[in-house]
Amino acid sequence: MKLPRSVREADVAEKTVLVRADLNVPLEDGRVADDSRIRASLPTLQLLLDEGAREVRVCSHLGRPKTEEDRAKYAIEPVRARLRELLPDDRITVLENTRFNAGETKNDEGFARELADGCDLYVNDAFGSAHRAHSSTEAVAHLLPAYAGLLLLAELEHLGRLLGDVERPFVIVSGGAKVEDKVGVLQNLGSRADRVLIGGKMAEDVRDSNPFTFDVALPRDVVAAGSFDAEAESRIVPYDDLPAGWLGLDIGPETRDAFAAEIAQAQTVFWNGPMGVFEWPRFADGTFAVARAVADCEGFTVVGGGDSVRAVHEAGVADRISWISTGGGASLELLEGKELPGVTAIPAAERC
Ligand code: 3PG
Ligand code: MG
Repeated sequence: MKLPRSVREADVAEKTVLVRADLNVPLEDGRVADDSRIRASLPTLQLLLDEGAREVRVCSHLGRPKTEEDRAKYAIEPVRARLRELLPDDRITVLENTRFNAGETKNDEGFARELADGCDLYVNDAFGSAHRAHSSTEAVAHLLPAYAGLLLLAELEHLGRLLGDVERPFVIVSGGAKVEDKVGVLQNLGSRADRVLIGGKMAEDVRDSNPFTFDVALPRDVVAAGSFDAEAESRIVPYDDLPAGWLGLDIGPETRDAFAAEIAQAQTVFWNGPMGVFEWPRFADGTFAVARAVADCEGFTVVGGGDSVRAVHEAGVADRISWISTGGGASLELLEGKELPGVTAIPAAERC
């Protein structure tokens, strides 16, 4: 994979640097509920400070504001406050939510000029937004000397390993609700994998009409529920024997063991998408079993996508995963083999 040039190559001393980070974090009661993305952006900011930048202007979108009321809901202030706690340095300023400007999502050059105004260079560290061609991720990269931040590079390097010569066996575990979201990735990666394990609601779609040209492993048994409810009556049934009107809300114990055994002997694992409705404790065991199996695997393991990332944190195994991607859509598009506009806009690294 062609990598964009690194912020490490930039001369930032005494410069004003515009940094696009992905600080699009979940909020709860006006506070940051999960600061992982803020923490992930710290190394680049710290590097710029250490290298003597005069000012570091950080910008990000937050949520998908549409109405006037959304301006209060998605104001950047809680994010700014959390970043200040984590990295108290007066040289850092955080601009207001980029999506409050209607030009942002249209990749408007006028808004890009506003962002670039007074800055000497631009660093894009927003991997999670790199699949968006927006003013702050794309247009602005053509107005200032542009560099990739450390997180963006680390994401490209780690996810890029899955697109290259992987160590085998290479096992993909995929789940979640919608097969449409994952078809592209599975088409691109699945034919190169030794085993593709599919769980979650998605497995039912694949069973009913398999869109793939390669073999996939579907669940053998399932935790069936009489209704879509956290407290629903439930029982374990063979996958092909779901009582009429019942819903499969988790993979069953036999499937958990079978998937865990496949994952245990893998040298490379990519997991995206939960095995069931793991938000409800009674239907979480399958997803957590996969999380533990991926963590126990001695090979190179990558987890991407908001739900599976949350599951590895909730299972308490996040520190035993080789790489947890901060990008949902961006990681999927990269692994689909697509170019990411936020990456393409940065000049490529010199070959060495
Ligand atoms: C994300 O959370 O996936 C990224 O921040 C991108 O957000 P978006 O889907 O609203 O562009
Ligand atoms: Mg491990």
